[in-house]
Amino acid sequence: MSGKGFTMKKDWDNPLEHAMPAEARVPASFSIGGIPVAPATVLAPMVGVTDTVFRRFIRNASQFTASSASPANSASSASVEDTVTNQQSGCGLLMTEFTSADGLSRMRESKRKRYLTFYEDEHPIAAQLFGSNAETLADAARIVQDTGFDTVDLNLGCPAKRVVGCNGGSGLLRDLPKIGHIFKAIRKSVTIPFTVEFRLGWSDSSIVCVELARMAQEEGLCAVALHARTREQGYTGQARWEWIAAVKDAVQIPVIGNGDIRTPEDAAAMVAQTNCDAVMIGRAAPSNPWIFRQIAEYTATGQYTKPTELDRYRMIRTYFQMLLDEAEATSELPRAQRHGETSGKMKQFASWFTHGVPGGSKLRQQIFQSKTGSAVLAAVDQFFETRLSAPTSEPEQEETELTAFPEEALTCSD
Ligand SMILES: Cc1cc2nc3c(=O)[nH]c(=O)nc-3n(C[C@H](O)[C@H](O)[C@H](O)COP(=O)(O)O)c2cc1C
Repeated sequence: MSGKGFTMKKDWDNPLEHAMPAEARVPASFSIGGIPVAPATVLAPMVGVTDTVFRRFIRNASQFTASSASPANSASSASVEDTVTNQQSGCGLLMTEFTSADGLSRMRESKRKRYLTFYEDEHPIAAQLFGSNAETLADAARIVQDTGFDTVDLNLGCPAKRVVGCNGGSGLLRDLPKIGHIFKAIRKSVTIPFTVEFRLGWSDSSIVCVELARMAQEEGLCAVALHARTREQGYTGQARWEWIAAVKDAVQIPVIGNGDIRTPEDAAAMVAQTNCDAVMIGRAAPSNPWIFRQIAEYTATGQYTKPTELDRYRMIRTYFQMLLDEAEATSELPRAQRHGETSGKMKQFASWFTHGVPGGSKLRQQIFQSKTGSAVLAAVDQFFETRLSAPTSEPEQEETELTAFPEEALTCSD
């Protein structure tokens, strides 16, 4: 385990004695306008990624972990259960991919359902909207509330040209009075808690996050989430956590810190440096779905379990099977096309999931050549059967990372 800013003792005979120092502990819970979130960890909204299958997959992430039962880890695992009483996976709040308010308010009821599908085991869950027209956003927020979401979130962070071009996402950061108008309209239209996710500002010369957070509080929003980069930065450079600290100093409503958390050590460091009320995790989740659980374990004990190859196999298989089941249950397409759709998603995820798996590039190749979902599953089975019967430990060189919004997934017309 590599510490980032913390020197942890290596004496784990009684894990609870070695729990994280209080100032570096990801809180066990926080509340968004009366909705309890425990632990204080949030799955970031990610278009093309955080659909209902992925969200449930993250919620149930510990089910495909075999190694937590191993004797070496049993003490720490037990204490996590004692300390973190709520979620199996350690992820306190799920968020949908962002949805166009304009699209939602125009859509037929049946189509809306497809966009806003979630299952009972996803609570608490937030739906995220983007748009730039206050009335349309207010209408869409009402739809979100009627659909049964626990909270509604406004996106002021998306840097994609198509969204910014319609003045949505981070495009709005250039117009604070308009944001104020939107805040008022949405706040008036719903009774469920209302939150906002935003960036530092449009560019270094127009950082507005502190002012924006104060405005959110004044207008009755229940929490703010800050991705500590400007729009101009996109996903480059480092997230500037000092601005999360500045926002936290400026408001009393909960502040969710976001940007560049890749490990439990990073989550602890963000809490220590910013005093944020919760942490939000995006890109690390698809390649390491155990991260939420690892954070809970690290918070409770100062150490955490790393997945074995068998865990990874179970994880990939579980997720792919969930995708197939969901397509079977919900797709209106004929079977052949349905599997085409699903295997496309599998291919997308395969590159993140096999990140760090020795020989993973071979599996990716096989998956990319597969024509159906079942063929993808067969390739996964064959790869891991061979690996588990004759493991080698050559390191995986390739790194595959989510770096940007897939522009083709975005539309808006308001
Ligand atoms: C592929 C992708 C899609 C994203 N989609 C959304 C989105 O729909 N709404 C949003 O507010 N942020 C979106 N984001 C930004 C993330 O929510 C998060 O703020 C960002 O990735 C920084 O966090 P991280 O360093 O933990 O990944 C997206 C990011 C990525 C990489």
